[in-house]
Amino acid sequence: MIHAVYPGSFDPIHNGHVDVIRRAARIYDRLTVAVADNPLKPDASFSIGERLEILTEVIHGLPNVQAERFEGLLAEYMRQAEANVIVKGLRAISDFEVELQMAHLNRQLNPEVETTFVMTATRWSYVSSTRVKELVRYGADVSKLVPAATLRRLEAKAAAAGADRVVRTPDAPRSRR
Ligand code: PNS
Repeated sequence: MIHAVYPGSFDPIHNGHVDVIRRAARIYDRLTVAVADNPLKPDASFSIGERLEILTEVIHGLPNVQAERFEGLLAEYMRQAEANVIVKGLRAISDFEVELQMAHLNRQLNPEVETTFVMTATRWSYVSSTRVKELVRYGADVSKLVPAATLRRLEAKAAAAGADRVVRTPDAPRSRR
């Protein structure tokens, strides 16, 4: 049985992440989406609890997928989780530069583990959590870029911060391209 781990900050989870989760869930027997509680990113917009809540909604209906928090080294978490494959999403060549370095480091730290890459659908290749947050800050429409669970939290945060609204438009089509 192949137990794969898809690690990330997921701050917040967007449609590119969801796409990678769905694709990886089809490839591997078991998939753990591991949310990093990263002390190097103390300015996260969503708490670890909120990110896990969103993820739990997003993976509903995917029986071989679970969500979990992790801290410390990914290579060590892989040992604890008894997982043998890391999944990383690739949007563009620029992602690969960073990911290749991390894959080599993780291999050095834990030679039992293989890193694999899943390409996001073309239509999500320009989406990142950073850009989503930037758009929200300016009140732009992100409803086509994030799942409903994320959009609801973004709206709640915007309301709490006194912003007028997060603009909504109809759901994006469900093409896999
Ligand atoms: O979504 P992100 O922020 O690109 O995810 C990066 C993440 C969390 C996967 C990466 O920073 C990570 O693996 N952090 C755990 C600490 C670790 O193992 N660092 C060494 C990686 S070579």
